[in-house]
This record gives sequence, structure tokens and C-alpha cells, in this order.
Amino acid sequence: MVLPHPLPLVPVPVSAVAREARMPITATTRVLGSSPAVALLIEAIESRTGLRLSPVETAPADIELIIDAESSAPEGYTLEIGDRAVIVGADEAGVFYGVQTLLQLLRQDDDGWSLLGADIADSPRFARRGVMLDVARHFFGVDDVKRFIDSTSALKFNHLHLHLSDDQGWRVHIDSWPRLTELSSASSANGDPGGFYTKDDYREIVAYAAARHMIVIPEIDLPGHTHAIGVAYPELVEAPVLNDNLVADSERLGQPLPVAGETYLGWGVGHSSVRIHEERTYDFVRDVVRELAEMTPGPYIHIGGDESLGTPQADFDLFAERATAIVVEAGKTPVAWHEMGSAANIAEGTVGQYWGKTTPEGTHAEEAEHFVARGGALIMSAANVTYLDMKYSEDFPLGLTWAAIIDVRSAYEWEPTAVLDVPDTAILGVEAPLWSETTRTLSEVEQLVFPRAAAQAEIAWSPKEGPERAWESFRVRVGSLAPLWKAEGVDFHPASEIPWSAR
Ligand code: ACM
Repeated sequence: MVLPHPLPLVPVPVSAVAREARMPITATTRVLGSSPAVALLIEAIESRTGLRLSPVETAPADIELIIDAESSAPEGYTLEIGDRAVIVGADEAGVFYGVQTLLQLLRQDDDGWSLLGADIADSPRFARRGVMLDVARHFFGVDDVKRFIDSTSALKFNHLHLHLSDDQGWRVHIDSWPRLTELSSASSANGDPGGFYTKDDYREIVAYAAARHMIVIPEIDLPGHTHAIGVAYPELVEAPVLNDNLVADSERLGQPLPVAGETYLGWGVGHSSVRIHEERTYDFVRDVVRELAEMTPGPYIHIGGDESLGTPQADFDLFAERATAIVVEAGKTPVAWHEMGSAANIAEGTVGQYWGKTTPEGTHAEEAEHFVARGGALIMSAANVTYLDMKYSEDFPLGLTWAAIIDVRSAYEWEPTAVLDVPDTAILGVEAPLWSETTRTLSEVEQLVFPRAAAQAEIAWSPKEGPERAWESFRVRVGSLAPLWKAEGVDFHPASEIPWSAR
């Protein structure tokens, strides 16, 4: 049996040795460093403990944050906690991640607050560690998104994919097509309240994420999942194409079928398509991509591509080729769900997002592998393990079951390079999506996201193999995050597989 890791850390570091002694944290503890992470550290410790540490400009200090580009790989850091605590980051991100590790070592016992003594050297396995929030099926405002950034960046996730449009609503203002938000943002799935981000809101999210080393990837889902576009601009979207699954699901759930030009209140998929043979469609795509690119400093624009069952295959492929080329023209790297890999001439370098299962079905693997043949790479979001909106158990009140029922152990035990027949170097990393059909509040989102996002964080960050890179160690370490999540008000699901610790 693997022994529980002596240090309560998730994701588990590359190397971590515990020291006997703890380092006390008191109101007189001094913090030195020029990194913006100093202020984040002081704030985080105050919100956990009520103790406000003092920033100092010169030594001596008790906690020191240093940047040394030679010290580790990008995003890496070392952390030593003895009489003093010293974080040396390879870059600002590395310092930030060293701070996140330090915060997991901050513990309360009968003598007060202290840091567990440790010698840690750490850097990520994958450069790309993502979470996705679907703000289209249910809308989440700026403050909710900021909380989501706080809780996921603490696990060393560095990409936030925002699913900004779907059949139920359009969530970001576009100046050149203003009716999108005027007419298609007011409601969510089931007719719940909607909303949208103004451009300033969006920029505020991007800046908040950047300060926590997260890159925002905006997604406009095309050519399917576009019913809401047709509510605002009927000339862009075909009449709904009903399929048997949609009709059966709508009956089972008591949801209405989609009607052209009317807000869609259900969550059935595969019925909508933009008009592939109208030039105006590409004017629209070009304008939206340009406006998104102007306010998105990150390198990616996600153009969707999933479940376009109402678009004939040849039309879909034509659209995929044109839409990805438009993203390239706008100076960004396109990202698309794996189905777009059916298009022979998808823009070179397009990144595919694989959402099939860990044992691929049908044409999913072939489609995903085509991105690599076109000089692109892949993000792994295998639905039966990474989808955060799947239920933990049959009777869990939130979430869906179509991909799998995913308990914490199932979320943890998979290997992203073992799914597809591509070189390991073609796998950029992992993304865990949260689709929001059944979640109306951030608290409901958090119950599905935590603790399972911690499993994906470890798969994406930690070395593939190591004595602690195992379920028996992970379950104990993730249980040790409970006091942090409670202090931060993160509404995690207290799954019975995990031995949750009190402090
Ligand atoms: C998806 O789950 N439709 C990408």
C-alpha cells in the first residue's frame, strides 16, 4: 500500500520532503518581495486566519518571494520552509504557484497558525491546465467568475475557457451585432434568468484571471448550438432540425421543442445551424472573432464545432475550414471541439479539444488525430472522466449522466496520453469542463467542481508517475483541502470516498 503523503498538497509536487518543525505565522510575520503575489499572499492569509502580515521593503523578512529564471522550468518554483519561508519562482507564475503551495501548508493547531516545514521543488507536467465554465446554459456574473478563478487557480489551473454562446443565450456584447445581447441574453435553460458581459465586464474577468496566471479562452459555439443567434438575427440561422434524441429527451424532461425565432428553454442539442452558404454568416463570424480578439490577450479563440447534427457533413466541413481560417486571419490560434477534425483542410495549427471517451467511439479518435496531422495539437477533455457536470452517483441531485457517473476515483484514474494514437508531445494538456444545464448558482457549480477538479489538476500538473501519484495518497491529500475550501466558502461536495480532515 502507498502511504499517505506526509504533506497535504494537491497537486502533488515533483519532490517534497517534510521537515519536523513548523514555522509559526503571527501578526508580526514579515513578507518581502516585489512580485504582485506578495499582496495576494497577504490577502489570502488574512482571509484564512484573520492575521494581516506586513509587507517589508528590505531584509530581514520571514517569508521571501524571489524570481530567478534559472531556478526551475517555466511556471516552476522551489519552496523551503524552515525558520523562514523562501519561494523562488522561475517566473511570476512560478512565484504564484509557490504561494498556492505555501497556503496549503498553512495549518492551525492548538498553538495557533503555522506553516508545515518542507523542502519542495516543483514544475508542471503539462503547460496547459484548464477548466471550462458554461455561462450560456446558465449565466454567471463577474463576481461568480472571479470566485471560480480564485478556487481553480489555487489548484494551479492556468486556462479558463468561457463557453459564451449556446442555443439558450448569447453572453458577451458585440458592438457590430448588438441585437445578440439585446434580444438573446435575457434567459437561461428552463427559462431561468440570463445575463451577459459588457465589454468592460469581459475585460475585468480577463484582467482578474491574468493576475492569477490564467489565460481566458473565449468560445463562440458554431455552426451548431446557435439557436440564440437566430433569435437576434433570423437571417443567419436555419430553421430547427429536430432529431429523434432531441424529441425523446424533450418529452422525458417536459421541455419545449425549439421554435425558430423564439428563445429556447430546453437543453436538447443538435437542432440549430448557421446558414453555411450565406456570405453574411462569414461577415458575422469575422466581426465576432475580431471583436473578441481585440479584447482577448490570450492566444486562442474557440470556435466550437460540437454536436452540429443539424448541419449536413459537407457543409459542416466547409464551415470548419472557413471559420478556423477567420480565426487565423484575426491573429489567433483556433481551438475547436474534436468534430471539426472531420474537415480535411481545417486551418493548420488548430488545436482540437477531445471530448470523446477514454475508449474512443465512432469517428472521434480519427477526427481528433487529424488536428495533429494538420500541425495542431490536442487538449484532452475525455467526457467520462473530466466532465465536471456528470453526477458523482446515480442519486446526486445535480448534474447529468449521459457520459458517465463519475466518482472522485474515476475522475482521478485516467492518463491523458493513453487515449489517442498521437505522440505524447501532441497533448498540450487537460481541460475539465463544467456544463451548466442543471446548475443555477455558483454554489451548485462548486458542488460539482470540487473535489473532482482537484483530480484533473493533479493529472495535468504532477509527474505521471511517483510514489504519491496514486489514489490512496490523493484521497488523503485532497481530504486535507477541506479546511481551506471551508475558509474560502467553496461549497465542495463531501464525497464519502474521501477522508475529510478538520484542520
Ligand atoms: C460537448 O460536450 N458537446 C462538447
